[in-house]
Amino acid sequence: MVLTSVMEHHSNDLPWRASANTIHVGLTQDGQLNIEEFDAKLAQYANRVALVAITGASNVTGFINPISSLAEKAHSVGAQIVVDCAQLAPHRKVNMRSLDDPKHLDYVTISGHKMYAPLGTGALIGRRDTFERGDPDLTGGGTVEIVTINDVVWAEPPDREEAGSPNTVGAVALAAAIKQLEALGMDTVAEHETKLTTYALEKLSRIPKLNIFGDKDPKDTENRLGVIPLDIEGIPHFLGAAILGYEFGIGVRSGCFCAHPYILHLLKLTPNEAKAVRDSMLAGDKSDMPGLMRASFGLYNTFEDVDALVEAISRISNNEYRGEYIQDGATGEYTPKGWHPNYEDFFSHSMME
Ligand SMILES: Cc1ncc(COP(=O)(O)O)c(C=O)c1O
Repeated sequence: MVLTSVMEHHSNDLPWRASANTIHVGLTQDGQLNIEEFDAKLAQYANRVALVAITGASNVTGFINPISSLAEKAHSVGAQIVVDCAQLAPHRKVNMRSLDDPKHLDYVTISGHKMYAPLGTGALIGRRDTFERGDPDLTGGGTVEIVTINDVVWAEPPDREEAGSPNTVGAVALAAAIKQLEALGMDTVAEHETKLTTYALEKLSRIPKLNIFGDKDPKDTENRLGVIPLDIEGIPHFLGAAILGYEFGIGVRSGCFCAHPYILHLLKLTPNEAKAVRDSMLAGDKSDMPGLMRASFGLYNTFEDVDALVEAISRISNNEYRGEYIQDGATGEYTPKGWHPNYEDFFSHSMME
């Protein structure tokens, strides 16, 4: 059995559902992990939980989970813990601790594209004894010592878990990105992002028609990441994001951020409302897809960037934008009227010459 939560990115939820009985811990009203419920479910299923799978920080609200304490609780019932650090690791120090510390993390995952490295690279860091046991998850070239027609001797970890030709360039780039973050110092990174988040929340909270989700308190930014989910009243999230991009050159993500159950919780959709949306989406119409916009800060962002975001959102919320936008019902996304770039042109012979 795997104990996970409703705030997970799908990547720390769906794989467990496919391979184990998966129990989801619920959330508080504002979207934090409900620790009382975590404790109760851990106690309820104590002897059956093999793994606790929890995010280190949410990619939707920036909430940071108390991973050391959750680890200690997991170990107390004989379970192991995997912490999804895709969102946490680029912004805060992560200490896995040694295996003899009850608060240690058994496994940690990181994702290259979230830490200034290319897409398609990541790492699962974990206890050697697990990877020495049994057969590899994926088998193929590079995973073996010896193969005969009747027998296979697996290589030592990590090789036995890395089937196929590796993404060497991605791995080198990820290592370089991590070294760069370490050189800057994670405390410096955290301090900068905390100041930006405080500044942003102070200013954003003054925009009348803007709803901020999760923790809105500008004084509490040391305990969360600079990820701010937003909704402008009367402006669908896909439209708001399109205007920010096309007219203001500001990239925010919009939609459900690969965390559908979490978004339904934050938006407080009733089961009937959720069903109605699901039905229309399955019928090919995503025009009313629930979701939010999400502004998030990296170490390259500045206070001027925040000013630009606040100014742009204020204007949009007052309907002071220039373009006329057309929605594509199949994706829900908006583009400016008349915006028809022909991407094939970019690959035509005349462009290549
Ligand atoms: C919290 C969190 N977990 C997992 C992922 C998924 O990482 P990947 O796309 O590398 O599988 C992301 C974002 O992409 C994320 O924000």
